[in-house]
Amino acid sequence: MDGGGRPLPATRHVSAARRHRIAVIPGDGIGQEVIAAGLLVLERAAQRGGFALEMETFPWGCGHYVRTGRMMDGDALDRLRGFDAIYLGAVGDPAVPDDVAVWDLILPIRKRFDQYVNLRPMRLLPGVPCPLAGRGPADLDMVCVRENSEGEYSGIGRRAADGGEERAEETAVFTRRGIERIARYAFALAARRPRRLLASATKSNALRHSMVLWDEVVADVAAAFPEVTVRKYHVDALAARMVTHPESLDVIVASNLFGDILTDLGAALTGSLGLAPGANIDPERRHPSMFEPIHGSAPDIAGRGIANPVAAIWAGALMLEHLGESAAHDRIVEAITRVLGEPGPRTPDLGGHATTADVARAIRDAL
Ligand code: NAI
Ligand code: MG
Repeated sequence: MDGGGRPLPATRHVSAARRHRIAVIPGDGIGQEVIAAGLLVLERAAQRGGFALEMETFPWGCGHYVRTGRMMDGDALDRLRGFDAIYLGAVGDPAVPDDVAVWDLILPIRKRFDQYVNLRPMRLLPGVPCPLAGRGPADLDMVCVRENSEGEYSGIGRRAADGGEERAEETAVFTRRGIERIARYAFALAARRPRRLLASATKSNALRHSMVLWDEVVADVAAAFPEVTVRKYHVDALAARMVTHPESLDVIVASNLFGDILTDLGAALTGSLGLAPGANIDPERRHPSMFEPIHGSAPDIAGRGIANPVAAIWAGALMLEHLGESAAHDRIVEAITRVLGEPGPRTPDLGGHATTADVARAIRDAL
């Protein structure tokens, strides 16, 4: 998997000095539980890899909102700016409107730090039951490159009741620059993967402005990547294809909303939302990137210690890769693969009886 990692220094004495500053935001609900699990594994990976992780934890999220009226402190973005990366659990609580949690914490971080790539691997790991009959790990190995800075989540719109009829308008904003940079990232990623396939999620039959521009720009960028085979699919048909012919898909490039929906489907197809990691990346490295499981705070199981920690642990591995620690990334993903491939501990979402901590310790010990 690619987080755009820098080459590693070759010599031991150089590597012993490597130090990465991480801002940790566990957030709410199972966010707290899975981040604790992730830190257990990251700390061991750092020891084994000869680098140091300097962590600072921030108590932001819905609990903070209930106490203070804000999701994050007023100077949060300025403080986060000084870190090399951000490790986020999840935010959301039944006591706080969901749009507050999203618009006052996650989206400001993504936007301020121009984390315009949302990278979401969707890979069926050996030993994990797949809900698709007769499918195995060789059939499901996709990665979604989701546009993370504009599109349907522009926030522009209004509620009105002029003329008596209540209405809501939500404006999607697509720019040539925004589409071009996400398409470039997706093509470059596809070019580095063995199958060199790219699927572009569109809906230019119904969305006559935004998705027509999307198709044009993707076609323009394609000219610079002749080695990549690109096909466009209407997003509804692409969702069906993920179920009927997942083996035909490799890299998927999608708008903010389409990518959001397709990746929850992808997570379900690869066994559990509790397995799926995500990275919010500023590929130009001007700002810290943010790494998180794609799932939410899961209030239905929070506080019971049974959340699957794999998504958060895997997101931590993506973070290390982005920080240039590719060997540590590979070691963590191998450890996850080994633990899930054996009849070892499994959380209830995968049909087991183990706790979050049992699975985290097993992965840590497999490092
Ligand atoms: P969710 O992802 O929290 O949960 C959906 C279902 O998947 C639940 O049944 C949950 O128990 C299960 N699940 C999720 N993660 C799991 C894990 N690690 N192990 C085992 N089972 C797991 O989505 P939902 O219920 O729609 O949202 C709950 C709250 O989380 C809401 O407030 C929502 O706004 C917020 N949310 C936050 C996100 C974030 O912080 N990035 C992303 C998605 C939702
Ligand atoms: Mg989502």
